[in-house]
Amino acid sequence: MTEQTVIWHCPSNLAIVKYWGKHGNQLPNNASISMTLKESKTITSLSWKRKNREEEPILDSFLFEGNENPAFKQKLEKFLTGLQAEVLSFLKHYTLSIKSRNTFPHSSGIASSASAMGALALCLCSMEKELFEPDMADDIFYRKASYISRLGSGSASRSVYKQWAVWGNHPDFLGSSDDFAIPVYQEVHPVFTTFRNDICIVSEQEKSVSSSAGHQLMVNNVYAPARYQQANARVHELHRALKSGDINTFIAISESEALTLHALMMCSEPSYTLLEPTSLKMISLVQNFRKKSGQPVCFSFDAGPNMHLLYPAEIKDIIKDFLDNEIYPLCVEQRVIKDGIGDGPYREK
Ligand code: PMV
Repeated sequence: MTEQTVIWHCPSNLAIVKYWGKHGNQLPNNASISMTLKESKTITSLSWKRKNREEEPILDSFLFEGNENPAFKQKLEKFLTGLQAEVLSFLKHYTLSIKSRNTFPHSSGIASSASAMGALALCLCSMEKELFEPDMADDIFYRKASYISRLGSGSASRSVYKQWAVWGNHPDFLGSSDDFAIPVYQEVHPVFTTFRNDICIVSEQEKSVSSSAGHQLMVNNVYAPARYQQANARVHELHRALKSGDINTFIAISESEALTLHALMMCSEPSYTLLEPTSLKMISLVQNFRKKSGQPVCFSFDAGPNMHLLYPAEIKDIIKDFLDNEIYPLCVEQRVIKDGIGDGPYREK
């Protein structure tokens, strides 16, 4: 039996209302909304062959950025074995080869697990579609890819859609679910379809506390119940702002969400801090610039020290001066990754 291959490009995403705290098998404790990026993506190639003997491994080879990576390979084997037991039982008849690479540097503060799990899930769904369900409708295809991505990394569930996605059951969104994300771009105001997201690199160090450990610390965080309520209320507010083009509400939610995420880390037991002094300096520069200039620019942070600078595409020339003069000099090797809202994943072949 000949080998077949599919290749998917899948971007990372940045949550504006954050998911922080989970239960069960990667189920979120509140709903979240994210923008899907454009440039920062993972490109994954999946090849499969039917097994000749049952004992053949589920994962024959794995290359990351062209090199073997035993730690990633082991994680993948575990993930694929779990999928074969539950969601994709046909996998037990196949042996897979996977190659993966990112368009952005490792540890640059971009959620690589979101793009990596998204790309892999899309490849697996294409494999299933090709082998068994050629008529699978697009909405079912992406929902399944989102479901599988979520099992690998919660935030990855949102990466399979273009522009904007919501994950988690929420009364505002018909069909929303804790199991998978759904797209929301259909109703978004034009100003929020071209937003820029410049990622200002403060540190390239590996995070001192992983996201999994961070989610776990929410279990005993005394503020957790109030936080989940706040996040769900903010999903409602942000949804309203995205539809009406209300940038001021967007700015207020984006900044408070980023600070809340890091505040939750700081008041966990044991407590920890991922923001750096330079991150705080950047926060005040952005806020001062906004006050002085009146321009609609704001920040967000993921679980790390690197600042995401967010603004509508039409003010990019005004922001360029601010970036050049005030932000670039603070970045590691003056590095800023220029990104923005993108059109979602696509299949190469
Ligand atoms: O998907 P995970 O388990 O790596 O969690 C990521 C959580 C945040 O990136 C901090 C927020 C989010 O909603 O993406």
